[in-house]
Amino acid sequence: MCGITAYVGNEPAANKILASLKKLEYRGYDSAGIAFFENEKIEIIKAVGTISELEKKMQQKRISSNLAIGHTRWATHGKASLENAHPHSSQDKKVCVIHNGIIENYQTIKNELKEFHFASQTDTEVFANYFSKNLNGGYLLEDVLRTLGKTITKMKGSFSFAIMIEGFEDKIFFIKEKSPLVLGVGNGFHMLSSDEMALDEKTEQVVYLSDGDYGFISKNSYCILSNGKIVKRRKLPFTAQVQSVHMGKFTSFMEKEIEEGSFACFNTMLTLLNQNLQKLEEAIKNSQKVFVVGCGTALHAGEVFKYVLEKECKTDVFLDYASEFRYKKPNIDKNSLCIFISQSGETADTLASASYAKGKGATLVAVTNVKTSRITKICNIVVLTRAGVEVSVASTKAYMAQLSALYFLITIFGKVKNEKISFSPTDILEIYNQKKEIIDAEKITLVANHIKNEKSLFFVGRGLDYFLAKEGALKLKEITYIHCEAFAGGEMKHGSLSLIDDESFVVCVLTQKNLLDKMMSNIIEMQSRGAKVILFSPFSELQNKVFCFVPLKKLKSHLMPFVAMRPLQMLALKCCEQKSLNPDMPRNLAKSVTVE
Ligand code: G6P
Repeated sequence: MCGITAYVGNEPAANKILASLKKLEYRGYDSAGIAFFENEKIEIIKAVGTISELEKKMQQKRISSNLAIGHTRWATHGKASLENAHPHSSQDKKVCVIHNGIIENYQTIKNELKEFHFASQTDTEVFANYFSKNLNGGYLLEDVLRTLGKTITKMKGSFSFAIMIEGFEDKIFFIKEKSPLVLGVGNGFHMLSSDEMALDEKTEQVVYLSDGDYGFISKNSYCILSNGKIVKRRKLPFTAQVQSVHMGKFTSFMEKEIEEGSFACFNTMLTLLNQNLQKLEEAIKNSQKVFVVGCGTALHAGEVFKYVLEKECKTDVFLDYASEFRYKKPNIDKNSLCIFISQSGETADTLASASYAKGKGATLVAVTNVKTSRITKICNIVVLTRAGVEVSVASTKAYMAQLSALYFLITIFGKVKNEKISFSPTDILEIYNQKKEIIDAEKITLVANHIKNEKSLFFVGRGLDYFLAKEGALKLKEITYIHCEAFAGGEMKHGSLSLIDDESFVVCVLTQKNLLDKMMSNIIEMQSRGAKVILFSPFSELQNKVFCFVPLKKLKSHLMPFVAMRPLQMLALKCCEQKSLNPDMPRNLAKSVTVE
């Protein structure tokens, strides 16, 4: 993954790069680095850890350069270490690069570079040396551009690069192939960034670079080439919200975002209700098959959608992880409706699946939180969620907004297919408006205290609740590092019950009246083996039947995810807080996974 940024302009570049890197930190945060010119030589500062570690090191030096490149890393090739942190230099130190993506054939290229010594395990350093070798001391601009063109055809994979070259103190070169890279235009400066929201707030226009583009930026100009020819790309007004997102009274972004989840549902639904739906209705009318694809939390929202749509509209849905979907070669054709759910709209597997479906002639719907993301460019119809910026890596309010958008879609399916749906958009608006939700924070804190030192936890539910259990387990494991696994209640007795003993804690979700007896039987089976059951449920009559009961408000059964999920998110957060871990930046993860 990683985030890259570059600035050349009138102002000192170091602070611009730092500010931009802070906004890109969601893309990875295991190490960071910056390169700039000093006395015509390229200087590099790197640090292991978050951007604040880099900032500390930068403060020890006066950096006056008006040109710099910066990187925040999520390790792909080689562990998180100073050697593997970007920027990387060519052996002769004349070329310095930062990179987002993966060069799939880097090993083959490395084998061709026998004369070079490599200081890191990264594919990026292979690029730096390959590029420098082919530059062959050529320090005319046309040599550099020709070499960039050659390099882009040599490398396989998805990548974007920003490159500094000794002798070109006024230019930053770039390459873009499948990994995101935008070019920002301002008065007296140009920037490059993996994400437009990390461009400087004074940016006036933005250019969305196309795959295969390469070129350079300087203070007052830029140049884009593709296949050896100069190309023009449209400049659009810079409208991205400048993200000065603050934690406010909260102690973490995750806490803030859980709080905002309810409004995210409301806001998403309200906005969708005011939109022209003709294209969407047409697409649903013409669809004979429905596919749902996503990763992580987004796919969990998709599972709820599939369950409810199948029940409410008698429409079968094929659902899969984006990383599996296209390899199964699903039977997609022009009568298929494929729904891609992605908060960021940049997840590599989801994008690749969307391209696959597009190639089969299907109609594509993107459910995403980012209007300018790549998924919106691939799909025919965009259903925007209105969660606002989600900073914390563990997705919370974006999931809630996805539920809202997906339930909205169900009502459209109902309308088109003439099926009576058990809920209406107004029901969802009212959850927020009429405060039809309770979160018993005290109880949840108590539960967190019980389970925080566990090595392993079980999450169990049936029907719709199984999908909530899966998302609850994902939240807890990703920020507490406790092994959490979700099971469908009825399946426990087919193997997994062997794991239960009198030390086991089991988090159960029971919101569906029709499954109450069956789920209670499963709970009793687990309790008979010694399990301590923590039950999230609106059925207060069950409170004395379990170790700990967390009450939920009672809504129509298919609406229960809207009141059950935030308490489960809160459980993960409380547990994380009690373990003194940082919920916003869990280890080994990143918010946007732009590698396959
Ligand atoms: C990463 C994030 C998850 C997210 C998933 C899909 O794994 O850490 O929180 O659910 O990617 O991301 P997307 O942006 O496609 O929804």
